[in-house]
Amino acid sequence: MGGIKMSDGKILFDPMKHAEWIPPHSREWYEQLFKETGEYRYPWKSQFEEPRAEIIFGHKIAANLNYGRLLDVGCGHGEFALQFALDAREIVGIDVVEGFIEKGNQHKSLGNINFMVTDGDGHLPFPNDYFDVAYTKKGPRDWYHEANRIVKPGGMILGLYHAGSHGGLRDRFPGLYSPMPQPEANDILSDLNLHGSGLTDIHVELFEEIEYLATPEDVLIKKCFGQNHKLKEIVWQECLQDVEVIFNKHATKQGLKVFNYYHLLTARAS
Ligand SMILES: C[S@@+](CC[C@H](N)C(=O)[O-])C[C@H]1O[C@@H](n2cnc3c(N)ncnc32)[C@H](O)[C@@H]1O
Repeated sequence: MGGIKMSDGKILFDPMKHAEWIPPHSREWYEQLFKETGEYRYPWKSQFEEPRAEIIFGHKIAANLNYGRLLDVGCGHGEFALQFALDAREIVGIDVVEGFIEKGNQHKSLGNINFMVTDGDGHLPFPNDYFDVAYTKKGPRDWYHEANRIVKPGGMILGLYHAGSHGGLRDRFPGLYSPMPQPEANDILSDLNLHGSGLTDIHVELFEEIEYLATPEDVLIKKCFGQNHKLKEIVWQECLQDVEVIFNKHATKQGLKVFNYYHLLTARAS
């Protein structure tokens, strides 16, 4: 069993070592999520302290839009993109999961929005210099060469990527969660294939966000996000009692404090 033995004693069951574990962010994982909820949405209950990474990211997009054309790469069911509907001349969202795209098109409110099944890591089916702003929120990492082609020179390209959660989770629940090095801003640059992309003014910020998980079950719901029912049953049986003890010992009135880290990339097309 993995994990480091901490002061709370026990090393908990590690669902990642079970044969039913679906690797997060694989195609199978996104399809499983769609099957279960029809959406890409976090199912655990929690409260956040301000500022929130997604809100800051949304403000940066809006500030650069100037009623232009906007692309969301890896849009999920499209909810995040819809907030820009009145501020954009046109919005396109692309994703590889057909179900997310169908759902996005069913719920879009205005004719200037279109969701399409497209692989963001391949050739993007748009003319040169078509968009004013393009972003991904936790989506593909290999689209920046194409971003530079399809966004107008000087247009903004943004990426928000989850860089792991820390705080209570990793220290308090060894085995269930494993240790993680403290992320740093430039960690992500080697993953993003920016070399030779033509992008300029590349800037990466590491953003720390504070979340309070509401109940012990939410610790397990977060861990098992996107996993199948069978594995969830096993995890609940193996871990819930221990997780309740640890949670109750460390939670504040707001819940169990967790730090979420995000990398926020901004760049300009040339
Ligand atoms: C972590 S989810 C985020 C969804 C949405 N952007 C949000 O923040 O709620 C990542 C999304 O990227 C999509 N995705 C992953 N790889 C992709 C690719 N190569 N091309 C297009 N979409 C992709 C997934 O299907 C999923 O909907």
